[in-house]
Amino acid sequence: MAVQSQSLGISFQLTEEHLEVQKAAREFAQRELLPGVIERDDKQEFPYEQIKKMGELGFMGMMVSPEYNGGGMDTISYVLAMEEISKIDASASVCMSVNNSLVCWGLEKYGTQEQKQKYLTRLATGEIIGAFCLSEPEAGSDATSQRTTAEDKGDYYLLNGVKNWITNGSTASVYLVMAQTHPEKGHKGINCLIVEKGMEGFVVGKKEDKMGIRGSDTHSLMFTDVKVPKANRIGEDGFGFRFAMETLNGGRIGIAAQALGIASGAYELALKYSKERKAFGKFLHEHQAIQFKLAEMYTKIEAARLLTYKAAYLKDTQQDFAMAAAVAKLYASEIAQEVTSEAVQIHGGYGYVKEFHVERLMRDAKITQIYEGTSEVQKIVIARSLLK
Ligand code: CAA
Repeated sequence: MAVQSQSLGISFQLTEEHLEVQKAAREFAQRELLPGVIERDDKQEFPYEQIKKMGELGFMGMMVSPEYNGGGMDTISYVLAMEEISKIDASASVCMSVNNSLVCWGLEKYGTQEQKQKYLTRLATGEIIGAFCLSEPEAGSDATSQRTTAEDKGDYYLLNGVKNWITNGSTASVYLVMAQTHPEKGHKGINCLIVEKGMEGFVVGKKEDKMGIRGSDTHSLMFTDVKVPKANRIGEDGFGFRFAMETLNGGRIGIAAQALGIASGAYELALKYSKERKAFGKFLHEHQAIQFKLAEMYTKIEAARLLTYKAAYLKDTQQDFAMAAAVAKLYASEIAQEVTSEAVQIHGGYGYVKEFHVERLMRDAKITQIYEGTSEVQKIVIARSLLK
């Protein structure tokens, strides 16, 4: 696919390599993720084996430099892979997304050489999994109001507080934890600390029983007098909030791709079903009411795809992509709601039962409007960019 537009500020073409990544992800999803996806959702089972294989295939550290065992790929490749994995299993793709764009990207961009050697080299292969810990019981969208504290004790920080809704909460080995060190400085007093599972005083709390992405493990985390070495701070003193915002900008491209994949997956199932099922003496797709639905679903997906690729392209070409990422996430997550709901509608009664997959995709779609910034947060980011 070639996209060229002076006015949009983008000009790119999918290369042979991009198409190979897309094909590899599509085949992997069909072969390894589709079997058992309904059961994993039902039983809230994390796809351990599948994530291990995703690591072996290079999907867990796609954009990391080969120097740190990563795939050295661009963001477009990552988006293509996220889309294909999300068509089948959004629980696996959120694990992939957090590891790639929040943990690996942040560590590679801002970590020290020691931190990269110690953590990134293993995160990039999927040998270990990472988690990104910003949200708190009283600080979700309002992320500057961090209550978790990291008291400066000389050569270590004393970490105390609670984090909520943490993706990869129990499976992760490495946690990037935002905490307030200098309350008088507001968000400029926040630090990001690398916390390892097993550090004394760190407890993984209850697993959330969720509406969607039920195969992913979402937990609260408790920190009580956890001693985190100073060497585990990312960036300068007080850089933590900036780190979180910069990292989330890239993360939002991943979630836009996830929403796009969920929508595309539902659309493809609805299209197939419309060619198999008959009603009133003809196939569903022969009814104009269904044709209109399919045409609208396709149009929305195509628009979301272009916005997502645009954000990825801007990031890959070192341009400012924060606003484009928020636009892509906002739009893709909203159309994922609409498209998955229409896919259920086209399936009729069958759409409402688990066997046909679309009800799961409809439940999974909702979270894309909530995590890595709600739709309202995306609008704040967009409006501030427009008005500055
Ligand atoms: N990129 C870079 N910097 C940004 C930014 C962005 N997108 N958004 C805000 N900032 C910077 C601002 O420039 C400002 O910096 P300075 O003070 O140095 O100028 C600083 O952050 C504070 O910004 P505001 O004054 O705008 O603060 P605010 O409180 O009015 O709003 C917010 C900030 C945009 C709403 C922010 O709190 C936010 O993004 N909240 C959502 C948090 C979020 O996405 N959480 C998701 C949790 S992680 C997750 O979901 C992962 C998972 O498990 C799947």
